[in-house]
Order: sequence, then C-alpha cells, then structure tokens
Amino acid sequence: MKIKYLASAVALMMLTSGSAMAKNDLASFHTEMGDCQTCHVTGKIKDIKKSMTDSETHENAQCQDCHGGYADLVNDKLEFDPHASHLGEINCTSCHTAHAKPQLTCNNCHNFEMEMPFADAKEKKKWDGDWNQDKIQKAIAKGPVETVDVIVVGGGSAGFNAAIAADMTGANVVLFEKAPYTGGNSMLAAGGMNAVGTPQQKAKGIEDKEEWYIEDAMKGGRYQNDPKLVQILAEESADAVKWLGELGADMSELKRSGGQQAERTHAPSGGRSVGPYLIDTLRKVSVDRKMDVRVNSRVEKLVLNDDQSIAGVVVHGRHTGYNMVAAKSVVLSTGGYGLNKEMVSYYRPTMRDMTSSNNVTATGDGVLLAKEIGASMTDIDWVQAHPTIGKDSRILISETVRGVGAIMVNKDGDRFINELTTRDRASDAILKQPEQFAWLVFDEQLVAKKEMVRGYEHLNMLSKANTVEELAQITGMSDLPNTVKAYNDYQVSGKDTDFERPDMPLNLTKAPFYAVKVAPGIHHTMGGIAIDTDTNVLNLQSWKMEGLFAAGEVTGGVHGYNRLGGNAIADTVVFGRIAGENAAKHALEKK
Ligand code: SIN
Repeated sequence: MKIKYLASAVALMMLTSGSAMAKNDLASFHTEMGDCQTCHVTGKIKDIKKSMTDSETHENAQCQDCHGGYADLVNDKLEFDPHASHLGEINCTSCHTAHAKPQLTCNNCHNFEMEMPFADAKEKKKWDGDWNQDKIQKAIAKGPVETVDVIVVGGGSAGFNAAIAADMTGANVVLFEKAPYTGGNSMLAAGGMNAVGTPQQKAKGIEDKEEWYIEDAMKGGRYQNDPKLVQILAEESADAVKWLGELGADMSELKRSGGQQAERTHAPSGGRSVGPYLIDTLRKVSVDRKMDVRVNSRVEKLVLNDDQSIAGVVVHGRHTGYNMVAAKSVVLSTGGYGLNKEMVSYYRPTMRDMTSSNNVTATGDGVLLAKEIGASMTDIDWVQAHPTIGKDSRILISETVRGVGAIMVNKDGDRFINELTTRDRASDAILKQPEQFAWLVFDEQLVAKKEMVRGYEHLNMLSKANTVEELAQITGMSDLPNTVKAYNDYQVSGKDTDFERPDMPLNLTKAPFYAVKVAPGIHHTMGGIAIDTDTNVLNLQSWKMEGLFAAGEVTGGVHGYNRLGGNAIADTVVFGRIAGENAAKHALEKK
C-alpha cells in the first residue's frame, strides 16, 4: 500500500482523532492502523528490540513501502521540502523518530519554519548522549561479538573511499557512522576537488604541473605542511579523479580556488555542489557492492592487544548497545572538530564564538579516540576560518563563487583584497573591516554558470536588483557603482591594478545584480592525528601503531596551517583510498 505522505497522514489523523491514542507520536499512530509489525519485523513487543538493527533497515524499508521513495514525497507546494534536500535519501527515521519527538535534521544548520507531524510528541533522552565507561569495559571483558577484517569509523568521503578501497582489495569491511545518515562534513562540501594532470584539464587546455600544486599547497599552508604528504596528494590526485569517474562521479567542470596558479578544482558539471553529489555516488557504490554500512553506530573506544596492535573497537549502537567488534585494521575517518565547542575553546580560544560551516558530526571523535591510546597529533591547534559564510548563518558561500567571478567588497562597496587570495588572508582582511563582514557581488552571468547560487537565492540569502545603482541603494554600498566600473575596466585590460587579482573570468554587466553578506566562520581543522605516507597512525615516538590508519580531516600534516579550497575533498579521496587499501592488506596478511 502506498500512502501519499502528508495528505494521507493528515486524513488518517482525522480518522483516529477522538479515539484513544496512547501517545501523540508516530508509533502510536501506526499502532492504531495495525500492530507493531506495521513498522517492525515482529509484532511481539518482547522480540522487537532484538529484531532491530542500528540502521533501522527494516523500519525504513517499511516507511518507503507504504509512503513511497523521496521522489514520491516531494511536495511542490512547500517552499523548502525536506524530502528534496541535499542530504539525499537518508533514513526516514533520521527525522521521523517514531516513539519520540521528531527531529528536523535540516535545522541542524538552517532555521526553517516547518511543522512536522507529531511535533508535540514527548522528547526522549538522546541514545548517544553519554559516554559510559562501565558499559565499554563490560563489552571488552565479554569479548568480540563479531570479527571483520577492517573497521572504518566515520562515513564521510574519506570513510567511504577507504571502505570501498578495502572492499575492492578483498577485505571484509564494516563502516560505522554515529549519525543517522552518512555523509559527514563532506556532505556539505560546496567547491570541488583539486587535481593536476587530468584529462579534464587537458581538454580545456589548462597548463598545470604537480610542482605548482605542491608549491601552492605549501605556500598556502605557510610551509608547515608535511611535504611528503603534499607530494602524494599532488601525485595521486589525477588518479583519484579517475577512480571517482570509475565509481560513477563526473567531475568535468573546472574552477580556480584561492591561492592556486591554475584551474584545478574539479567539480560536477552544471555548477552543482561537490559534497552531496560525491556522497550520493559513494553511497550508491556501497549499496551496489552490498557493503556493510551501519548508521546510528558510535565507536566509543579503540581496543588494543597486549602488544599494542589494534584488536578492534567498542561500538555503541542505537539499538544493539555496547559491543566489541574485532578487526586487525581500523581506519579513522571521523572528520575534524570544528563543531566541538570545548575542543575549539581549548585549541583555538579566539575562534570559540565563531559560527561554523561544519556538520553537527564534526566533533573531533577520532582525535579523542586516538589520543586516548597514545597517538601523536600534528598542528592540532590550527583551525581555519572560511571567509564567506552567510552572515549570521551556518551556510557556506563557496569560494568558487569568487573563483567564477564574484568580487568582494566592504560595507561601503569598496574592494579591499584580491578575492582569490588564500582563505586565511581573506578572513583576516574581513575581520579587519570595522563591521567584520563583507559582501560578495556578482551578476546573472555568474548565476547561469553556478547552479549552487540558485540555492542561496532559494534560501533568501541574496539581495537582488536590476541595476548596480539600485543594488548599491538597497544594501547601503554607496561606492559600489564606481567599484564595479573600475573592476569591469580591469577585466577588459586583464590587469587589476588595485589588488592584482590574477584571474577575472567575468565582468559585472548583466542584470540582475546580486549581493550576499558574508563573514568568516570555522570551516576546517587542519591539525589532527599524525600519519605517515601510508596513512599509518603514529604514536608519540613517531612509530606506527600497528593496524591503525587514518585519513581526511581527522589527520594533520597535509594542509599545514591553512588549507586551500579544493584540497579537502582531494585529501579525503587520495588518503581515504590509501588508508583503505593498506588497512585491507594489513588485515589480510595477518589472517
Ligand atoms: C568552498 O567551496 O569554499 C569550500 C571548499 C573547500 O573548503 O575546499
């Protein structure tokens, strides 16, 4: 039976209103229609808990069986439809928590005013709110309930790439993700992935070199990066784009991010955001390969053998509780700590009160897990502020918007920096403005090239006008007309004599004209777990910790003190793959 979600839910609520529903929650509503088996494997209360997986696979299949897939549920009448969100087809139960108050996942970052069915249901204690040392110890004492070759902790781009690479290498892999859906911070990545020497660059006649990639990353990172890691990043980048292509991701568009000598930021065609696109592709690959990806599964501890090699992890599942799972190899790919207030306050107190573009999952779990067993950290206190987060929001305005042609001006409409400088310098320059904000200004030509800008418009973030003068008036940027005229002249001559912007792909001549107010916010934690070139985690003596690997934002060393735009996704794909392959080889050798 397929039920069209909203209309049918409301109709059924009307039918049942007046009857004695035990609680006003989704579960009671369904029980009125049938028994618990409407949602669960069994109708017997005593057996339900045992029948549930942490991913709530059966329950979610039941939702879709009755209500249809996301495409069926999109409601054109809604201004913002959560079923058409960039999070993709995540578990229905991520939001529709049946026995408790529902969660509007979108509002982890947005402020949508939306009414969810059963919104007045009772709030319940979060299943993963505590860290229970006792239960962890009991799980270890009991011993493993399962054994696999490789455990991957964290389901963002690094985690998926590692898990897929390990699976392709022949290992038996499980990926644990604490959130109710995969994607992590990568899910929110807007820009693209840096790579050098790709067929995409060749087709566009772009001259680029590995040495330039390395030079840019090192210079951007103030020469504090580990040069060996940067070399691998550059050398393996083209192969990483090829690998993504083989997995089904088309990265055919090219842009320039800040601090780069060439157009090497590869992105999906049509100006779409890279993160949702990539995660969607990787999720599909994991499904096609029948991989074991478990959400609602928070790894609480790394367990060591007496000889200090990896024995496995203790994972806390939403329904299965605390259990030890044994593995010869563990890959940490849990992302950064940009949304862990305590860690930011400790490592970078000056950024404590800044907004952040990060997903709620970016809480530094991998750093804490690895530190607890004696891993070494690199540059752990280096946190990056992205210059252009929508003012008073958590929505990132991609650096590639400047790369494609936007200018950046202050409250009076005056440019104050080369827009294509590195993001640390751009952030500093904005913070030196008395009001500590800036405007990005662009025209219709840019909107036509960058699909994601329509998303900002949809979110009501843009000021829009038919002339530059009108835009100046509605935003209070009195100098904007003169600034735009001067910039358009520089664009014709190819020389920006004010700020030496190296690349001016567009002028600002085609109405409508747009402006978006931006300010810096926490975007990336550059420091983290110390790794070697094979992604082995290093201990305080810089010896490798046998069986423990790490990749992506959880690690330090790749980006030095400042990461360039487009190097995060490159990092996750290049080092995620290496970690997965090496973890698999290690586990298979030890079998
Ligand atoms: C952006 O598009 O500005 C973010 C991309 C990145 O951080 O690499």
